Formats: sequence, C-alpha cells, structure tokens
Amino acid sequence: MNTAIILAAGKGKRMNAGMNKQHIEIMDKPVMIHTIEVFEKCSMIDNIILVVANEERELCNRMIQLYAFQKVNKVIAGGVERQDSVFCGLEELDESCDIVLIHDGARMLVTESIIIKCINNAMKYGAATAGVPVKDTIKIVENENIVKSTPKRENIWITQTPQGFKKHIIIDAYEYAVINDIKATDDATLVEKTGKKVKMFNADYENIKVTTPIDIILVRTILEERLNLA
Ligand code: CTP
Ligand code: MG
Repeated sequence: MNTAIILAAGKGKRMNAGMNKQHIEIMDKPVMIHTIEVFEKCSMIDNIILVVANEERELCNRMIQLYAFQKVNKVIAGGVERQDSVFCGLEELDESCDIVLIHDGARMLVTESIIIKCINNAMKYGAATAGVPVKDTIKIVENENIVKSTPKRENIWITQTPQGFKKHIIIDAYEYAVINDIKATDDATLVEKTGKKVKMFNADYENIKVTTPIDIILVRTILEERLNLA
C-alpha cells in the first residue's frame, strides 16, 4: 500500500493573502484541491492523509466531500512547524502501508509521472526526493554577504516534494530527530541524518511551490498552457 501525506497546515505568511494560501482559487479551484486531485487520480496511490490547521478541519472536510475524493480517508490537524505536521501524519499511517509519500499541498503542479517516479525510487532506494538541477550558479556567503565559496553547479539540485520513503525508514528518521532535537525544512534531511542514502530524481521545473504572489501568476500560466495542450 502506498500512502500520500499531503501537508496543508501552514499559514502562508509569505503569500500575504490574508488567508492560508491553500484556499486561493486558481482557475476555479483552491490550490489544495488541485494538489489532491493529482494524487486521487494516480492509480499507484491507495490512500491520502490530509494534514490541515486545526481550525480549518471542518472546512477541509466539507471540501473533500464537495469534490467527492475517495482516497482521502483521514483529515487531521497538523502542528506549529512543517516537521510537526509531518509527524502528525506519520502517526496516522496504517499497518498495511509500505511506501509513504510526503508532499507539500502548495505544490499543485505535481504530475502523475512525478508521483510514480517517486514511488519507484522509494521502493528501490528506501528514500527518494523530487528535485531539479539548479540553472544558476550558487554562491555560499558569510558575514556581510562576502562570498565564501562557489560549489560546482553540476552537483547542486533544488529539492522539491514529493519525497518518498519505505515506512520504517521515515519513522526511524523522525524518532531519531525527536531524540536528537534535529530540525529540518524537508523530510529527506532527517533520513540523511540517520546515515541512510537518499536518491534524488529529476522531477520537473514546473513543480514549483506556491509561496509568494509571483507564484500565483506562474501556476496560473502553466495550468492554462497545460489545458491548451490537452
Ligand atoms: N505546512 C504544514 N504545517 C506547518 C507549516 C507548513 O502542513 N506547520 C505545509 C504548508 O501548508 C505547505 C508546505 O507545508 O503546503 C510547505 O510549507 P510552506 O511553503 O512554508 O507553507 P507555509 O508555511 O504555509 O507558508 P509560509 O512559510 O510562507 O508561512
Ligand atoms: Mg512555512
């Protein structure tokens, strides 16, 4: 069984929309709904755990009913930080779950092909993350933004979600993080900290996270383009 944990319990502060960015409508549907739809339609996904803000639970339950999603079998409350929300999701996994995919609800342009790649890589390597090679040269800076070093571009990738894991690997990583007080902005980092390998696979430059207002323009344009091509 393959389970997707979809995270929507953030506040969307950087979007500055006066509400959680998950509810911003893009072409008649909220961001979060676009994301869930892709997982719902993917035959390799068996069930979905949706993690939302405690005060938005009722609203989100109603939305799941409205769109008649069949695979969303749990809508649960998240925590203060993203890592806390993932932990809440992991606690809800069934015994029968083999592979867990963790995905940002804000990455609404994820595709079925990325989800399948993620599951296959997680089965093969135990832990895998979506990403893309950086296009720009990256510089590490220190005090007063003085450049410290310039890592080789070919070794640098931007990390995205979904990130996929064998269940025991991600559970172990989260327990290790609690015991050792490790904080990270993505889940693969916690697996890396346990000394396990994480496979990076090439996803898509379009798989952006709706984060700031410019991203709304980008996702709308890409969605329109996809519809024109379909
Ligand atoms: N997320 C979550 N629980 C949190 C924080 C974030 O489930 N406590 C989710 C967000 O809803 C989002 C994803 O994790 O889908 C990636 O986080 P981010 O883009 O940072 O979203 P927000 O935290 O909502 O945005 P911001 O940081 O601008 O407030
Ligand atoms: Mg955040």
